[in-house]
Amino acid sequence: MKEELKQLEKEALDKITSADSLKEVNEVRVAYLGKKGPITEVLRGMGKLSAEERPVMGALANEVRESIASAISEKNEALEQAEIAKKLEEQAIDVTLPGSPVKLGARHPLTIVTEELEDLFISMGYTVEEGPEVETDYYNFEALNLPKEHPARDMQDSFYITADTLLRTQTSPIQVRTLEKHKGKGPVKIICPGKVYRRDNDDATHSHQFNQIEGLVVDKNISMSDLKGTLELFAKKMFGEDREIRLRPSFFPFTEPSVEVDVSCFKCGGKGCSVCKQTGWIEVLGAGMVHPNVLEMSGFDSNEYQGFAFGMGQERIAMLKYGIDDIRHFYTNDIRFLSQFKQA
Ligand code: DAH
Repeated sequence: MKEELKQLEKEALDKITSADSLKEVNEVRVAYLGKKGPITEVLRGMGKLSAEERPVMGALANEVRESIASAISEKNEALEQAEIAKKLEEQAIDVTLPGSPVKLGARHPLTIVTEELEDLFISMGYTVEEGPEVETDYYNFEALNLPKEHPARDMQDSFYITADTLLRTQTSPIQVRTLEKHKGKGPVKIICPGKVYRRDNDDATHSHQFNQIEGLVVDKNISMSDLKGTLELFAKKMFGEDREIRLRPSFFPFTEPSVEVDVSCFKCGGKGCSVCKQTGWIEVLGAGMVHPNVLEMSGFDSNEYQGFAFGMGQERIAMLKYGIDDIRHFYTNDIRFLSQFKQA
């Protein structure tokens, strides 16, 4: 019986040594240490042994079991280590290899123009204000001196949501919202960029959604010459140092007097070309002195405070600056168009 056990131990240890996978080792374990294995089988014959021999054989059987079990766990450990080493070997990363290039997009031309305008006005001490795109009739029209039924409302065909709410047709309502926040106390010096909406049929120069930047300065002793100086600076920074501006009388309900502002043509310098339609001038924005009614309705004393305001469209500025001939290019997201605005 002793020889039998020794023989089994040797067999098992040989098999463990030659096993080269966890699966094989497990098979040895099941075969030799399992309840139906040969060691258990040998021990069944213990009944035939004498009382002295039995404990000796029992101890030997345990020794053999333990020797096999510890060989198994050592082998398992070794196989696991080898597995890890192999994985590390296979998955090694060469950190010195060059990475795959990341494709960079371009900033949208309207973003470029908006940020350029923001930078310019911030440098002159303006702060940036925003307002809701779903606006009340009061802020979009009434508080801007456009009472219900005022014929000038027709200038801005509107998307109404209810009788009293609409998609804002201009960024001018932010003027009113900001003035209200100041509770009758100047100075106020803001620009307000944002999306606006009008019920226009889309074509090369019209879009039902576009962008505006509104400017507003309210303080004591503000005059038309402040407006003119500000716009002159704007024209030179956006379109070139040699630019001049020209003010033409116009009408906006929220300004009095109101002007349309032209910039001397940056293409021909004023001689006349296709860009300026042979006039030498390009219409760029609307502006004026804030109407006393607007100041009063927003809580400012119009005897004490004056102000100027202006409003321009980023699409128009970008079309002029970059020679874009169709406003729809801004919204159709053609990569060939957009990638032209990549900046170094
Ligand atoms: N809100 C005007 C528009 O959408 C643009 C404008 C004109 C704004 C004159 C002003 C302004 O603040 O003074 O047509």
